Amino acid sequence: MSFRPGDRVFGMCPSRSNGAHAEYVCIPERAPIAIMPANTHFDEAVVCEGAFYANSGLRKFHVGRGHKILIYGASGAIGSAAVQLAKAYGAEVTAVVATQHLELVKSLGAARAIDYTAEDFTRIGETFDFVFEAVGKTSFFGYRRLLKPKGTFMATDVGPWGQYLPLILWSSIARNNRVLVPLPPRGSGHAFVEFLRARMEAGQFRAVVDRRYPLDAIADAYRYVETGKKVGIVVIDVAAADESAHVAQEGRILCKPTRDASDVGNRRNPSKASQSETCFPLLGASAQ
Ligand SMILES: NC(=O)c1ccc[n+]([C@@H]2O[C@H](COP(=O)([O-])OP(=O)(O)OC[C@H]3O[C@@H](n4cnc5c(N)ncnc54)[C@H](OP(=O)(O)O)[C@@H]3O)[C@@H](O)[C@H]2O)c1
Repeated sequence: MSFRPGDRVFGMCPSRSNGAHAEYVCIPERAPIAIMPANTHFDEAVVCEGAFYANSGLRKFHVGRGHKILIYGASGAIGSAAVQLAKAYGAEVTAVVATQHLELVKSLGAARAIDYTAEDFTRIGETFDFVFEAVGKTSFFGYRRLLKPKGTFMATDVGPWGQYLPLILWSSIARNNRVLVPLPPRGSGHAFVEFLRARMEAGQFRAVVDRRYPLDAIADAYRYVETGKKVGIVVIDVAAADESAHVAQEGRILCKPTRDASDVGNRRNPSKASQSETCFPLLGASAQ
């Protein structure tokens, strides 16, 4: 596999490398990157990490046709990705969100949307094959009545006060897959980004972008993310400062095509670059 100068790519920074809030990033070609989906803007393609975590749980248990899944926190980065991917796999999705996000999750594919501010979703009288807690703020014990006898509770975090940890340990000892925090398999990032690209091109996945900030305002972006109230992702528009001529009339950013990678390579110390590394200008990055 090889990329050519001028290719538009999207993806994630490899784990253990520093983040990507920079104008350029230099990563191996086998890193979690792929050619961008056709007809997608850079600020709509910075979606990988939340989707990556969402997908690991759904794939681990082969969530699909005939399964019922309840997703709590369905308006967040992981939750909004989980709704779309579970639906694409054929599962019936019930999404739990606040009032203002009901229409959003239905548009993402949820068969049913429940307002957690208006009703106790743990007492809806239904049971599920999977419950996906995508916020890390609720107690496991309320979910027990929502799970089928062999149902699985998946979470993206260890829960309030680390509450899920002993349950995960118990589940692992009992080998019953009852409570889990599924992590993406090591080295699976590249295949995942290719997979996501295919889903995006098939119209089965789209970025849910809440706000966009220019790089200059990155501190404000993080302050907003830390409120815990963002919807989907927050985009840092790395190129906004010097690419203002590309802002379209309706306010969307038309990212200009990736600059010649060889030109980028000339700007850094070539002696430090291995031959399998390529430098890409970053035109958008996610603060997730
Ligand atoms: N993003 C990642 O790449 C990543 C990776 C690994 C682990 N995690 C962990 O996974 C969890 C979710 O991460 P995220 O980035 O997806 O979250 P997020 O995008 O920050 O989640 C924000 C959303 O959560 C909803 N929310 C906040 N409090 C809620 C509550 N008490 N009940 C229901 N919904 C609530 C908010 O909607 P409302 O307006 O409805 O409250 C908002 O839409 C976090 O614990 C995070 O540490 C994240």
